[in-house]
Amino acid sequence: MATLAVFGIGYVGVVSAACLAKDGHTVIAVDIDPAKVAAINAGRSPIVENGLPDLIAAGVSEGRLTATTDIRAAIHATDASFVCVGTPSAEDGSIGLVYVKAVCQAIGEALATHPGFHSVIMRSTIVPGTMDKVCIPILEAASGLTAGKDFGVGYYPEFLRESTAIKDYNDPGLIVFGALDAATGAHLTALNKDLDCPINLVDLGTAEMVKYTSNSWRAVKVSFANEIGNIAKAAGLDGQRVMAILCSDHKVSMSPYFMRPGFAFGGSCLPKDVRALRALATGLAVPSPLLDAVLVANSAQIARAEEMVHASGKTRVGMVGISFKPGTDDMRESPLAELAARLIGRGMDLTVYDPFVHEAYVNDIGAAGRGLDHDIGLGDRLVPTIAELIAKSDIVLVGNRYDEAILPLQAALGDRAMIDLTRIKPGQRSVGSYEGICW
Ligand SMILES: NC(=O)c1ccc[n+]([C@@H]2O[C@H](COP(=O)([O-])OP(=O)(O)OC[C@H]3O[C@@H](n4cnc5c(N)ncnc54)[C@H](O)[C@@H]3O)[C@@H](O)[C@H]2O)c1
Repeated sequence: MATLAVFGIGYVGVVSAACLAKDGHTVIAVDIDPAKVAAINAGRSPIVENGLPDLIAAGVSEGRLTATTDIRAAIHATDASFVCVGTPSAEDGSIGLVYVKAVCQAIGEALATHPGFHSVIMRSTIVPGTMDKVCIPILEAASGLTAGKDFGVGYYPEFLRESTAIKDYNDPGLIVFGALDAATGAHLTALNKDLDCPINLVDLGTAEMVKYTSNSWRAVKVSFANEIGNIAKAAGLDGQRVMAILCSDHKVSMSPYFMRPGFAFGGSCLPKDVRALRALATGLAVPSPLLDAVLVANSAQIARAEEMVHASGKTRVGMVGISFKPGTDDMRESPLAELAARLIGRGMDLTVYDPFVHEAYVNDIGAAGRGLDHDIGLGDRLVPTIAELIAKSDIVLVGNRYDEAILPLQAALGDRAMIDLTRIKPGQRSVGSYEGICW
């Protein structure tokens, strides 16, 4: 069992403190607000949350949960601290770090005289880079110690929802944390080991980003459901019924399939159907800002890829895939076809490898080029093999993923400049002459 300090007796801190004490750990809750400290020490909850008063009363009466305003004493008596102070918006909407900076300063000063090893684990929501650029420098300067060596550092975001916070603690949907040092990683792994949820031990920045991704995704879902509900109601339909049926489809609608960062969507359905739903909404006088933004964002992703190729300075471009997805020769509203036309329009010498489109050209001239919006002389640009494509280009632009092309493309890494919109190699990051669109 661990001895832990929890800084900030707000919604996150008090739930963490009470649940950790329930699990048998010894917990010292710390706050600058003496009223909250007094409430805990009296066995009362400082916030309203289902089930919390009983947990706090039990933790205090059994001697595992105490509270104090004395930061130094709390740090010295514990092996790790969870920092749960607030991060309200600054005036310009950016993250407010006043409390985070103050608590890091105070913890750092206490660490300077800590007799053993202590891990500082941030739980407040902070934008990527905050641990590296703000928290660690303050902790090191205030303590005169080196992070990751003399004291541990972790970032362990909290995902609880108020009103079901204790249930969420016992049954989390997601566990992720970053650690600067092995001891902190092991500590957090041990604390979570009995929960029925995979543990993601990552770097600090990834853990910071996952928290914002989770909250933004929740926000997008609410706004999306509301927008659909508004349009449905105006069309005389029950929006909640529509969304409930959509959510029953875990195979496609609710699957991770469409949640993989990469290139734009296209094809014969998604763009036309988003446009049509927007038009329906306009006709019904219902605003659809989210659907509008979806089309703007999609077009921006095509422009992003175009700029990446342009910025490379190379002009002999070998494009892997031009249909709207692998396994079909359909080029209706293919974002790759749009990208190809733009690159040719910028004077680039484009060659294309697409086995399905190539087959259509070879076998049936009539149907070949189905759905191509721009006259880009595609028939003359197609090459039959990936080897030929690589040989004829100074930069390879990977748009679709074809099994037979993967090994040759991986082998060309380093030899040939490459822009990858799909990720030919798991875990491959942008480095040297290789650039991934989102990694
Ligand atoms: N509320 C939620 O549902 C929730 C869920 C997940 C994550 N978060 C994130 O967790 C963090 C905390 O949120 P909250 O809602 O619990 O905040 P809160 O405002 O309810 O509580 C913050 C507490 O920190 C205390 N505090 C401030 N400076 C301190 C210091 N130097 N030392 C000790 N205590 C100090 C304050 O007095 C207050 O009691 C935020 O970053 C928030 O975004 C919140």
